[in-house]
Amino acid sequence: MIVKIFVIVSTMTLLTGCHVLEADESDQEVLEESAQDRIDESEELLTDEEKRQRQLMDALPKTVSSSDWELILVNNDYPLPEQFEVELKEVEPEKWIDERIADNYMALRDMASENGHRLFFASGYRSVERQQANYDRSINSYIEQGHSKEEARALTEDYIAIPNHSEHHTGLALDIVDQEWIADGNGLVPEYDTQMSQQWLIETAPAFGFILRYPEGKEEVTGINYESWHFRYVGKESAVYIHEHELVLEEYIELLESRENKSKLTEQNG
Ligand code: DAL
Ligand code: ZN
Repeated sequence: MIVKIFVIVSTMTLLTGCHVLEADESDQEVLEESAQDRIDESEELLTDEEKRQRQLMDALPKTVSSSDWELILVNNDYPLPEQFEVELKEVEPEKWIDERIADNYMALRDMASENGHRLFFASGYRSVERQQANYDRSINSYIEQGHSKEEARALTEDYIAIPNHSEHHTGLALDIVDQEWIADGNGLVPEYDTQMSQQWLIETAPAFGFILRYPEGKEEVTGINYESWHFRYVGKESAVYIHEHELVLEEYIELLESRENKSKLTEQNG
């Protein structure tokens, strides 16, 4: 008799337990479904721009930080940091770049050569004094052509960064065209983009960590006119992402900072 009662009680417990378990699972499913519905509904309320921002955030490289050395931002709003130092390596006669990116540049140059494009390295690292000399020369030349001082300054700054504000000071910027382009008497002009080597560079350079830094249509963001020859090292992951999403460095850093601020807030609140 005792045995019988025990069997009945344990069977009931088991049954009740099962029932509770089933109820828990289906409750969970309902909760998950309604949470998903809420996400779907809020997605529908987003504007196209908000959806794009969300996609951009989701696709950001996971391990990259806005404070990484290769993402240093130097433009007319951000000067070269005080105490900035860089170890340079000569990669072409009398042409230097940050030694940490020398292998990447040389690999890109060799790959270009294998594909029939002989690159011409016009400019790499520039000191602040050298930038100042270029800047002054350009202003004087515009003044000689009859422009006012103000006009000369504005025209110069379309293409030449204010001294101490050029990313050429970092050793991470390279001005590249091809040797035939130079041999034909051309220089660093937007029309270099009519050349196959330039198209090849835009598509291939990201795999080596380089992006076209001042693309057409982003002048308002970069503060510099379209430069079809100016490439910048940002690291492979970042370069591929920036290229794929048609961003410029300023926009990319803003996204990284926004992710970093969000995760700081989450840490503080959680
Ligand atoms: N041409 C680029 C903007 C520089 O002067 O750094
Ligand atoms: Zn340049």
